[in-house]
Amino acid sequence: MTGDSTRCVKAVAHEGVPGSPLQAGPVFAAPYLLGEDERDDVDTYARASNPGWRALESALADLEHASAARVVGSGMSAITVALRSLVAPGGTVVVPSDGYYQVRTYAQEFLAPHGVKVVEMSVAEFGDGTLTDVLVTAPDNSVVLVETPSNPGLDTVDLRAIATACHVSDALLLVDNTTATPLGQLPLDLGADVVVASGTKSLSGHSDLLFGYIAVADPELLPAIDRERLLSGTVLGPFETWLAHRSLGTAGLRFERQCANALAVAGMLLEHAAVTDVRYPGLAGDPAHAVAAGQMSRFGPLVTFRLPGRDEVHRFVRAATLVAPATSFGGIHTTADRRARWGDAVPEGFVRLSCGIEDTADLLADLDAALKETTLHRGRPEPAET
Ligand SMILES: Cc1ncc(COP(=O)(O)O)c(C=O)c1O
Repeated sequence: MTGDSTRCVKAVAHEGVPGSPLQAGPVFAAPYLLGEDERDDVDTYARASNPGWRALESALADLEHASAARVVGSGMSAITVALRSLVAPGGTVVVPSDGYYQVRTYAQEFLAPHGVKVVEMSVAEFGDGTLTDVLVTAPDNSVVLVETPSNPGLDTVDLRAIATACHVSDALLLVDNTTATPLGQLPLDLGADVVVASGTKSLSGHSDLLFGYIAVADPELLPAIDRERLLSGTVLGPFETWLAHRSLGTAGLRFERQCANALAVAGMLLEHAAVTDVRYPGLAGDPAHAVAAGQMSRFGPLVTFRLPGRDEVHRFVRAATLVAPATSFGGIHTTADRRARWGDAVPEGFVRLSCGIEDTADLLADLDAALKETTLHRGRPEPAET
């Protein structure tokens, strides 16, 4: 007679079919059952390969116009796996000095000590020929990582020009496509070799999972990336894989609305007496617009602006009913982040607003009311606790 526990375990087991997608449930190694032929080119262990990854990767490769894509556990792991597998000791890596701050921190703390020369370059320097000077003295196979539009400055780098400068010097161009997404910009079509991105933001879009991906133009880059992912174990879990893939189906709709909201919000803020320094690459008068218009089809969910100081930012977020204080971006809810708190080189009152998918009129009205409230109470002490 079988014991109760054994019966319980049997009750939730199902027959593993090699190659079938992961099932939610305790299914042991299934569908990674080892065949008697002992082949290792099929799914044998989830860290090496699995059908869930392949489904998501083929969708991402299509979206990025790539020959192939690889998914990993976060945007940072997309960048670190790509850099570790493509830059050798003695090589040079160029990273943005005014992009997402953890990338340059990683390069300085973990690549430089292993003999990689790390050069930090601003968006302005990417545009003024500094890159060519650096690459002339760098060994072949240098790697250049650019972020456009940059986070948090929303400045743009001319990807066609940078791709030409890289290829003249046999350097690889990696583009962080997180803020633009493939629905706003296709770096591989503009000459880049590799896209790295955080899918945590607009692509998955619900602020409920972390994931990253690497998409390549040339499949010859894949073996090094695969090896690095396998051995470092920088993997995406099965639940996130499923959720990310499922979320892609609505990414087009969500991104369209986010971009439409961002343009409307940026236009409203430009006219608003309470704010200064509004930036959005989609605004015709924005310093980033000329380059953005030449390479982007949509300009993204992020708008930045400046309030007088830290207190005004907190008052604004408190007064708004449709704005959540959060540091991630690209989700369905509008969110705001005071970037100075993270050490970005921006004024204390600098706000990075990520526009969600709310109805545009509602969002504009809410932001306007919150800004009025912020201005009204400017300089007054906080209300006393009762
Ligand atoms: C431009 C950019 N790249 C990469 C990342 C890292 O993404 P993740 O948080 O998914 O690791 C971020 C995170 O905000 C980012 O803004």
